[in-house]
Amino acid sequence: MSSGILKGKRGIVFGAMDPNSIAWKVAEKCVEHGAEIVLTNAPVALRMGAINELAEKLNAKVIPADATSLEDLENLLKESMEIFGGKIDFILHSIGMSLNVRKKKEYTDLNYEWMLKTFDISAISFHKLMQTAMKMDAMSDWGSIVALTYIAAQRTFPDYSEMAESKALLESFARSFGYHWAKKAHVRVNTISQSPTMTTAGTGVKGFTDFFGYADKMSPLGNASAEACADYCITMFSDLTRMVTMQNLYHDGGFSSMGMAPEVLE
Ligand SMILES: NC(=O)c1ccc[n+]([C@@H]2O[C@H](COP(=O)([O-])OP(=O)(O)OC[C@H]3O[C@@H](n4cnc5c(N)ncnc54)[C@H](O)[C@@H]3O)[C@@H](O)[C@H]2O)c1
Repeated sequence: MSSGILKGKRGIVFGAMDPNSIAWKVAEKCVEHGAEIVLTNAPVALRMGAINELAEKLNAKVIPADATSLEDLENLLKESMEIFGGKIDFILHSIGMSLNVRKKKEYTDLNYEWMLKTFDISAISFHKLMQTAMKMDAMSDWGSIVALTYIAAQRTFPDYSEMAESKALLESFARSFGYHWAKKAHVRVNTISQSPTMTTAGTGVKGFTDFFGYADKMSPLGNASAEACADYCITMFSDLTRMVTMQNLYHDGGFSSMGMAPEVLE
């Protein structure tokens, strides 16, 4: 159901790889609510092809960018502004990947080269994106930048491995850069801490299916879906949340406030 709350707004959506991706749902809802968007993903993810179907459906351009490459980010921002004919109102950073998790290395036996690459992809890319956008003066006044995160930044989830530290770093970048963006152009920067969600990144974590069920029982409202996360992103891109910045916002059906849920013991 379109509200038109993003009418006239223009944004970049990172991370829509397939229809399960949270960013896929966000892209669909952005357009449904009236925004014009550019889609981007790493060249290797684009080669899988599904994003082109989404682009066609949404009448959006796709611009490849490896989020760890300053050159790619600069090109993405420049081309997007040309397409929009002006500055960018919102950005979604929906990027996460752990080399050690993917290669099944235990947390107590990590490969540090891979760990650095994980941090670069999953967290430092957020700083790189914001720094490049600031140098290019690419964001509109009162714009909004959102990155997706997970509660493993605050609590221990053993199989989440080095992604926990990636998310802690990501959330810290949102707070620190949020100050500078607010002062420069009233741009707000927040992270949304989402429930476990059945996506490629999510299901790559060991024991994900069992954990998904556990989190669902622990959350009084149940796990938040990707669609619901997209709805929340839309509110954060809209003018209705102009004074929210430098926050980590839980979107998890209540999970983060629970101590014990009787449902888990049944
Ligand atoms: N799925 C979950 O359970 C869950 C829960 C909380 C937060 N998140 C976060 O949500 C975000 C989106 O993940 P998702 O669950 O939709 O999975 P996904 O696998 O669909 O999305 C991850 C995206 O990151 C992109 N990516 C990887 N390396 C990149 C690079 N170098 N440059 C640009 N893009 C790159 C991938 O191509 C992919 O599109 C991630 O930050 C993830 O950590 C996911």
